[in-house]
Amino acid sequence: MAEGRVLGHLFLIHDMSFIEKRSKETKWYVFMFFILLGIVISALTVIIAQWSWRGWIGAMRTLLTGEGIFRPSEMTSEEVKPLVKDLRTLIKELQVNQHIRDESLISWTPKVLKEILNKELSGDEVIIVSNREPYIHNRTKEGDVEVRHPASGLVTALEPVMKTCSGTWIAHGSGNADREFVDEKDRLRVPLEDPKYRLRRVWLTEEEEEGYYYGFSNEGLWPLCHIAHTRPVFRSQDWEQYVRVNKKFAEVVLSEARSKDPVILIQDYHFALLPKLIRDKLPDAIIITFWHIPWPNPEAFGICPWREEILEGLLGSTIVGFHIQFHCNNFIETVDRLLECRIDKEHSTISFLEKMTAVKAYPISIEWPPYWLNLCKPIQECSNKIRSLHGLSYRSVVGLGIERLDYTKGIIERFLAVEKLLDLHPEWIGKFSFIQIAAPSRSRIETYQHFQTEVRKVAERINEKFNVTQNPPIILKIEHHEPSQIFEYYRGSDLCFVSSLHDGMNLVAKEFVSARNDEQGVLILSHFTGASRELPEAIIVNPYDIDQCADALHTALSMHPFEQRERMRSMRTYIQEYNVFRWAGRMLIDASRVRQRNRILRRLETMAIRRGEKEFWRANIDDALFHSRWTPKT
Ligand code: F6P
Repeated sequence: MAEGRVLGHLFLIHDMSFIEKRSKETKWYVFMFFILLGIVISALTVIIAQWSWRGWIGAMRTLLTGEGIFRPSEMTSEEVKPLVKDLRTLIKELQVNQHIRDESLISWTPKVLKEILNKELSGDEVIIVSNREPYIHNRTKEGDVEVRHPASGLVTALEPVMKTCSGTWIAHGSGNADREFVDEKDRLRVPLEDPKYRLRRVWLTEEEEEGYYYGFSNEGLWPLCHIAHTRPVFRSQDWEQYVRVNKKFAEVVLSEARSKDPVILIQDYHFALLPKLIRDKLPDAIIITFWHIPWPNPEAFGICPWREEILEGLLGSTIVGFHIQFHCNNFIETVDRLLECRIDKEHSTISFLEKMTAVKAYPISIEWPPYWLNLCKPIQECSNKIRSLHGLSYRSVVGLGIERLDYTKGIIERFLAVEKLLDLHPEWIGKFSFIQIAAPSRSRIETYQHFQTEVRKVAERINEKFNVTQNPPIILKIEHHEPSQIFEYYRGSDLCFVSSLHDGMNLVAKEFVSARNDEQGVLILSHFTGASRELPEAIIVNPYDIDQCADALHTALSMHPFEQRERMRSMRTYIQEYNVFRWAGRMLIDASRVRQRNRILRRLETMAIRRGEKEFWRANIDDALFHSRWTPKT
């Protein structure tokens, strides 16, 4: 101000926004601090929890496996021992019950089987050994190469399992062009169009095949195990080849195994010696031997000159499996009669030379839904096709029989039943035809040659007897058919007749049912097949009783579609549930349990040895083997 005049204005501007900014920043830091604090506290909590959990689990494991009890340096006090024992028993029972509950809840699919392999057997490799290979390369007369699926129930059942589990399938390379399709290690990846596992082919000389396959396996063991009234033939030169080929396969298994404890699934009567041969070299392997044919009673088996060797060979297995309990009982009784061993009938186990083998029934089955069904035409088209193929009228009624041309299958009895049906019910003459597909099998063996002649003769005689211009009583086709064709027959027929005189399971019965998603068609099934135990909705017959079989044919041909549906639906539901993935899964679960048990036993044995109590261990081994129960001397 000067002389009362305002000379100018002074503005003082103060920027206070920093306060707001600072306050925001402070809030942000405080917020971040608490977040970080939260993270650190959570992490610490998790780490501490993990430590405690691990410690607790470790302690429990130590208790359960007995290490804590038996380790000399850390002996548990005397007062605690009984408690620990009780706890172990209790937890073991709980585990067993838990498993049983789980298994009954499982709906068996390839995915579930794979999970079991991963969980229970930590994804171990699976090796399958069978005589018959799943794919056979043959060069035809025209010079082309064809790939065949053999007529074998075993292959039908195992192929989907192998596709799921991967691994290696070892089998005899029997095709005349087989060698052209393997690599330098005799392997190839299959299925050819979409490889899922390895096939390892084993080559046999003429002499080996003659003695081991045609001779000892199929002229000796096959008739020995089937009650079909064909005398077994035992020759020492065949036995020599059988031993030799079993040794050859054992070497191949050892060369293919990638770990010291692989899971090996040995198939059938061709390899009775293989389990022991492998066990001697791979003591930790899980060896599951499945005997696909019946096991006879001890008297019948006793005529085999090499009976002890066969039993000892089989007892190299972790598990020996049969289709039905009756065959397990026969096997156990045979071992009881012929070997010095200890048998626990309650648990179905045999202890021989300090090793335990479980003997169990696992009824084999088929893939559900079957692969070949996807490729099939509708029912009506299949029905028309098979009729036009054989010059039958479209309205004719068709019965079906499908199998290898084998004297155990009751083919002649079946034809006689057709004859009887036409005698008793002439209204079916010229209206009903029975198509019999018989894949040539083991044709080098004389018994099979005679059987073929006989089958042809009976079919011709019956056809001549009824002498119709169309729809003859019997159409006999002795030739190989691929599964896709067989499924067309299943779907196009009105009934399927399985009349085996004796059969382990018989998968034709199950395949026929699986093919009938129209819920029509009737199954006539021999009482002497394993399948008859599982499919009581079929018409069950005694194939030796020709009148009864003729009657069954008439009942089947006259059955109302409603009743067909009821029976078929029930059988389909059963097979869907009890499929081949269940069969394989149950064996693998059992195998993993045996493995766990063996590991515990081995640990106990090591403890005993360390404590200088080997003799005491030996003396008490039965207790340990049978009940996983062993207490040290002190
Ligand atoms: O059906 C029983 C069975 O032993 C199968 O396990 C096996 O595939 C078949 O018979 C044997 O036939 P092949 O001698 O033609 O292999």
